[in-house]
Amino acid sequence: MSFLLPCQADSKTLSFTDDLRLLVHGGAWDIPAQLHEAHARGVQSAYEAAVHCFRNGGSGLDVVIAALDVLEDDPTFDAGRGSFLNECGEVELDAGVMEGQTLRAGAVAGIRNFLHPAQIARDVMEKTNHAFLVGAGAEDFAQRCGHTPLPPEDLVDPREREVFARWIAAGKPDAKIFFSSPAAESLRSGKHPDKRGTVGVVAAVRSSQSASGWTLFAGTSTGGTPGKMKGRVGDVPVIGAGVYADDEGAAVSCTGWGEGLLRISAGQRISAAVRAGVPVGEAVQQTLLDLRRRLDGFAGIIALDARGNLAASFTTPFMAFAGPSGVLAPLQQPVGCVTVRRQDY
Ligand code: GLY
Repeated sequence: MSFLLPCQADSKTLSFTDDLRLLVHGGAWDIPAQLHEAHARGVQSAYEAAVHCFRNGGSGLDVVIAALDVLEDDPTFDAGRGSFLNECGEVELDAGVMEGQTLRAGAVAGIRNFLHPAQIARDVMEKTNHAFLVGAGAEDFAQRCGHTPLPPEDLVDPREREVFARWIAAGKPDAKIFFSSPAAESLRSGKHPDKRGTVGVVAAVRSSQSASGWTLFAGTSTGGTPGKMKGRVGDVPVIGAGVYADDEGAAVSCTGWGEGLLRISAGQRISAAVRAGVPVGEAVQQTLLDLRRRLDGFAGIIALDARGNLAASFTTPFMAFAGPSGVLAPLQQPVGCVTVRRQDY
């Protein structure tokens, strides 16, 4: 089942497998009606690619990368091709991946000439003694690992040139408002640029090596926010902010206002709460409410714990995500998605 909450748009049932739990998101913001279908289709394709990968023997990290590859390829989303442009009119990509048994993690930021930053993040994790590479060093490393460089212009969707021009015409507004202001109004007036969303995945794979019987994985990928300063890095590649996985806590992937998610260490906060005994849905909801209360920030989060419990919630008007059949009922009420939408909008 894939859907945008609270507007359900499932076209097909996506089922649990016995050995895999999986959620995929395609961003949280005020997704206008004309983009719902593209978002639902995109996250569903990513979900199906991940399940297919798993059924063909893929590891938990393979599953995460399979889903992120699809989303980075799809210009519907703010990741890979079609990402927002920075203040200089360039694409700069960030991504992070993590696995929860050994707490290995890899991240990259400021990637300008590769389509799949999440793959490079995985290589940082698996092929270096480091956890985070940025800019030219990350790009050199990617080339040494055999990733195919592209002319930076190839990552720019022509649509983004128009978005960029509108952002300048609107007086270069701060990206914080993009996650909460009504898209319909902005599309009509041209006051704010079109938006799109960060992408992410959380997965749990049965494992005899983990005390709980599951090993957790998370991955998040983004082009950041429109008109961001050159060199700006948000929550996404920061381990413990936009991406986190700990078998003793939770796997988390965030989307939304990156500066806020960074400042409250969203991923680590949720995982630590789960480790202390808070149900994963409550931990997600509490973090979103804290972001709202303390920093007036809006976001969406998917998470799962090491017993395979899934959670997804958001304080933006909509969030695009795909999960297994039967996930809608447990997700919508306990985490209060509809209520939050009504209160805030
Ligand atoms: N959450 C995406 C970003 O702020 O870069």
